[in-house]
Amino acid sequence: VTALDRSAAEALDAADPLASFRARFVYDEDPERIYLDANSLGRLPKQAIEAVAERVREWGARLVTAWPDWIDEPARVGDLLAEAALGAGPGEVLMADSTTVNLYKLAGAALDARPGSGAVVADAADFPTDRYVLAGLAAARGVELRMLATDPVEGPGAGAVAEACAAGDVALVCLSHVNYRSGALADMAAITRVAHEAGALALWDLSHSVGAVPVELGRTGADLAVGCTYKYLCAGPGSIAFLYVRRGLQAELRSPIWGWFGQRGQFEMGPAYEPEAGIARFLAGTPPVLDLASTEAGIRAVADAGIGRIREKGAALTALAVALHDERLAPLGFLLGTPRDPARRGAHVALRHPDGRRIARALIERANVVPDFRAPDSIRFGLPALTTRFVDVWDAVDRLRALVETREHLEVDPGSSRVF
Ligand SMILES: Cc1ncc(COP(=O)(O)O)c(C=O)c1O
Repeated sequence: VTALDRSAAEALDAADPLASFRARFVYDEDPERIYLDANSLGRLPKQAIEAVAERVREWGARLVTAWPDWIDEPARVGDLLAEAALGAGPGEVLMADSTTVNLYKLAGAALDARPGSGAVVADAADFPTDRYVLAGLAAARGVELRMLATDPVEGPGAGAVAEACAAGDVALVCLSHVNYRSGALADMAAITRVAHEAGALALWDLSHSVGAVPVELGRTGADLAVGCTYKYLCAGPGSIAFLYVRRGLQAELRSPIWGWFGQRGQFEMGPAYEPEAGIARFLAGTPPVLDLASTEAGIRAVADAGIGRIREKGAALTALAVALHDERLAPLGFLLGTPRDPARRGAHVALRHPDGRRIARALIERANVVPDFRAPDSIRFGLPALTTRFVDVWDAVDRLRALVETREHLEVDPGSSRVF
């Protein structure tokens, strides 16, 4: 059986131990549509509908008297996430703010804790918000933002990080665990080790790895992490993000946002800011309580499936996509933009093509396949294990092949949508 054979994909679905989890999610759109953009916005868990409705009812029934129950939700849901997907302990993870704001808080705290140092190391191929936030912090604190220029497909390795830290002047190394464009999975343990050897702290953006691959914050010794919940955790558009601060580091770091939710004895309304002892010092303001209800539902789906099984299926889905790329797309001018070693990639693949923007648009308009596109040339297929079938991968590649083979994509206006 070759990858060209659809029945091979059907057989993989028939043997899939996670197949039943699909039924936990909503598929209300056109049944012919193949949705491959859950790496931007994951599907709606059915459990979230009831959880949010219940929270709304509670709002109506109890108003402010429910706050004593709601106020600890960021820590409680953070602990759930820590155990389900982050390899972290209780009291180390907090749901809060957006990824961008959390990155600002933790990177700012790290720089403030290393006042004499001269540089932050980051990846030139990292997601824009990471690069921009770090550039802003570096400018404000008068330190250098030292960018790694590594292979755009393979991503940064420990060697490149060690070299960038060689002068001993680095306060912080900040990288994505899985790269948003290529899907490259960084070696968190090795990179954290070289950062520590150079006296730097390591901060990881887990947006594209949380809920897709096991993250082992405790075992790798990672100091700090942030990430979003609307991709593989299926928590909903703009859902609350999370942050991690290694327990041993919490007392030493201070958020640069001195908000009242991080204050010791918050409701004493004291005259001066004095941060909480533990992770709560990294809260800023009032948490979005409705949002935490859907976030918990998404985290529970991942917890129930088990991150190990999710990883296994994710690797098999991307392996099928890579095999199909090689057989059916490479002859049409595509290049694989994702590492070939399954151990070195997350749960999405990048298919590069000089006309990628137009092809991505044509996939949506003419082939009923929803990928996304990341400049300059990458069409991303996100393949979350809980909601993707092997036949979805097979059919999507088949439709993509037909579209480009017949040159139908050339009839489509690449478009001026603000998002795609
Ligand atoms: C690596 C990474 N960091 C951060 C973000 C987004 O941050 P925010 O939720 O603050 O917009 C994304 C969004 O796709 C991302 O891929």
